[in-house]
Amino acid sequence: MKLKVDYNNMMQSSIGERGIGEEAFEKNAALIEKARKSVLDSRGKGWQQWCDSPYISESDLGKIIAYGDRVRKAAESYVVLGIGGSALGAIAVASSLLHLHHNELPREKRNAPKLYVEDNVDPERMNALLDVVDVKTTYFNVITKSGETSETLSQFLIVYDLLKKALGKEEAKKHIAVTTTIGKGTLYALAVKEGFEVFGVEAGVGGRFSVFSSVGLAPFAALGLDVKGFLKGAREASKAAEEKSLNKNPSLITAFLQYEAMKNGCNINVMMPYCDGLKFTADFFCQLWAESLGKATDLNGKTVYAGQTPTKALGVTDQHSQVQLYTEGPFDKVVTFIAVDKFRGDRTITDDREIDACDFLKGHTLGELINAERVATTYALTKANRANFTITLPEVNAETIGELLMYFMYQTAFAGAMLNIDTFNQPGVEEGKKATFAMLGRKGYESKLEEVENAPHDDKYVAG
Ligand code: PA5
Repeated sequence: MKLKVDYNNMMQSSIGERGIGEEAFEKNAALIEKARKSVLDSRGKGWQQWCDSPYISESDLGKIIAYGDRVRKAAESYVVLGIGGSALGAIAVASSLLHLHHNELPREKRNAPKLYVEDNVDPERMNALLDVVDVKTTYFNVITKSGETSETLSQFLIVYDLLKKALGKEEAKKHIAVTTTIGKGTLYALAVKEGFEVFGVEAGVGGRFSVFSSVGLAPFAALGLDVKGFLKGAREASKAAEEKSLNKNPSLITAFLQYEAMKNGCNINVMMPYCDGLKFTADFFCQLWAESLGKATDLNGKTVYAGQTPTKALGVTDQHSQVQLYTEGPFDKVVTFIAVDKFRGDRTITDDREIDACDFLKGHTLGELINAERVATTYALTKANRANFTITLPEVNAETIGELLMYFMYQTAFAGAMLNIDTFNQPGVEEGKKATFAMLGRKGYESKLEEVENAPHDDKYVAG
């Protein structure tokens, strides 16, 4: 595996009594092994079909790559309509691998359509999108595993209507692909009726675990990203997740460290990449960790209110905003740094004038500066006895991003197993979805509407 995790600063040897003692590994050996086995034994079964995604067949991958080639040539803009797990993978990977100002590059330098991932139904955002894209040269991928999500269905209805008006029905159809569960849900039925291209999502692949399925792969192919390298990285991380030896299994060891940290009162997990391209991998992680581990009951039905609140920060930007709190506030956080050894490009700090006060900067590169600041922040946190660890990628490319996201997924699955909760459901999210259906008058949700309307609300407690 190319990814490395340095967890020295989680240990008592670095941060004193607030750290984890060496004896914890021995004491919890049975728990760790049980978690490892339960996750590995369930691979490819039930809700763990995501474990099989990186081993996609040549023919299925070929279909996705052919779609990508076709769309890449034809589209000026490519729009993903989806939300949550149906959008965050595309956002995280595309922003890691594309030029940071991809959409502003001229077409010949971009070599791919402009990308927009529309993961909200703010009306101003939809209007803004339609102000900047010409639907006649735009291709849409409507991604919803359930095929029922109100946000995505609404977006789809709006754009399909516009496409039909602009191009006529036959041409409009060619601009829509649908990624959903085959044979299930409103969107699948519509896709069959209208004759859209359909990419299937396996029944046992949940939204937040779907980036290695067609949910992620079809957009990546349309953008000309290295899909094969991405899957190779995922397979490397999957292989490492099998290791019994903790130091060879980064996802297992860090799941355990977070599990221990939670027991020590660290109920906040700060994900802090020091690389702009990785900014949205922190969003990806936050959804995965929050939606998977935040559960009211455990697998025995006992009320546990499990979970650790993930939050994101960006190095170095948030050194000037959040780090004061991390260094001197409550001892309730683990900070996970993501470091990059070698940036894809660098810039030397130069100055032809003699400014003594800036002398120390001259001759260094921005890459050296960002990494020195990361090491300095790690040092300051550790000196203040704050738990932190560092994930290092040698560089950002399709393979290392594949490793990183699969590492996150196994880490989450192992942590869920240690907490003895159902990692793969999301009853809290479903409750909100049902209430939305009810409030918008969907048939079959009449009693839910009554429940929502009768929820206690008192004007006495409204301010302003
Ligand atoms: O991880 C999840 O399951 C959720 O975040 C879903 O991805 C999100 O709610 C969207 O669901 P769907 O893909 O069914 O539209």
